[in-house]
Amino acid sequence: MTSDKNLIAAELERSRARTALLTDAVDEDDLIRQHSPLMSPLVWDLAHVGSQEELWLVRDVGGREPLRPDIDHLYDAFKHARSDRPALPLLDPAQARKYLAQVRDKALDVLDQVRLDERPLVNGGFAFGMIVQHEQQHDETMLATHQLRTGAPVLSAPPPPPGNRRIRGEVLIPGGPFTMGTDTDPWALDNERPAHAVDVPAFLIDVAPVTNAAYAAFIDAGGYDDPRWWSPKGWAHRNAAGLTAPMHWFADGGAWHYRRFGRVDPIRSDEPVVHVSYFEAEAYAAWAGKRLPTEAEWEKAARWDPETGRSRRYPWGDDPPGPEHANLGQRHLSPAPVGAYPAGASPLGVHQLIGDVWEWTSSDWYGYPGFRVFPYAEYSEVFFGGDYKVLRGGSFGTDPAAVRGTFRNWDHPIRRQIFSGFRCVRELV
Ligand code: AVJ
Ligand code: FE
Repeated sequence: MTSDKNLIAAELERSRARTALLTDAVDEDDLIRQHSPLMSPLVWDLAHVGSQEELWLVRDVGGREPLRPDIDHLYDAFKHARSDRPALPLLDPAQARKYLAQVRDKALDVLDQVRLDERPLVNGGFAFGMIVQHEQQHDETMLATHQLRTGAPVLSAPPPPPGNRRIRGEVLIPGGPFTMGTDTDPWALDNERPAHAVDVPAFLIDVAPVTNAAYAAFIDAGGYDDPRWWSPKGWAHRNAAGLTAPMHWFADGGAWHYRRFGRVDPIRSDEPVVHVSYFEAEAYAAWAGKRLPTEAEWEKAARWDPETGRSRRYPWGDDPPGPEHANLGQRHLSPAPVGAYPAGASPLGVHQLIGDVWEWTSSDWYGYPGFRVFPYAEYSEVFFGGDYKVLRGGSFGTDPAAVRGTFRNWDHPIRRQIFSGFRCVRELV
């Protein structure tokens, strides 16, 4: 990003406008209620966003007096599980909104006063960028909460651009080393660093994410009832959870429908499938005679430019995402059909790597060789280990400020309330 203070202030403002839109869309009762044990009440996310901004920008960067040290513990994600948050003495919606405004006032004052080359935490505007991304991440989480709430629809957006049925099949990614991760992106988080060379053998990757039509064919072929396609852990979970289709899908009159932000529609055949767990993605890939990409394969397909040998910030180049490149930023409230973003394709012609749906990879969540915590272990490092799988590329619910070719997300392999889909790869034969 940038260390220009006006641009930083504009990014802070843009994330706050999104937070306001998502929380003003529902009434007080809806803000306080827990829509799913997987999610916090929206009013918790709201005040938590302010709390992180106070901790990092007001207290740490600014060195100012705490505004509300009494509520720190309520909004510390490690102190209370999501399912326990509704029972806490949280700020009510009016108090939370007032708190956010007070914190923002002080944070903007700090931005005005601070020298952005003073210490690593603020270099290139990093701490401000971290807080912008944090708020945008919670805005995506709040959008996922909206998807889980019942009742009349409260959000609306124009439909995504049309697809192109000629975009199909696979793309060959030649073997050889490429640069994974980054040392230079000023707002890249600790887990995206350092840049390092990875040798990736040649492979074929799907030109686009797996569609609803392709996924429905897996269901129709009895894929959910055939343990051959599932890993042992996946099969155990499929049975324990009684999985039969992606989350939010239901059969009506012999046709698949889904419920999306309170509206019911037949599934769109050419739209990337969303709301599947890692285990479902893994089973589909096995059924299709393929597998999920490793994280390195995904990133090479997304960033490697065979002309120059360097890794780009995005598949289309280094320019920030525009509406022509990718379905990001909650501009549309669904994935876009395959082929909708020709301008966003990679040099080798892989489409829709950024936006639409988070893509499951087969990689476990670990730090790169040479990883160093920055600035706090509770963002990334405490989750390293075999319990989480890496997702890449962002979804229609992800803001442009919160995703790039190097960005790494992670979740439990059973989770599917997030906007998760996938694409497959296979070896050359
Ligand atoms: C990167 C999406 C896994 O929501 O758990 C928000 C982001 N970290 N507040 C999450 C995050 C702290 C994180 N993910
Ligand atoms: Fe958070």
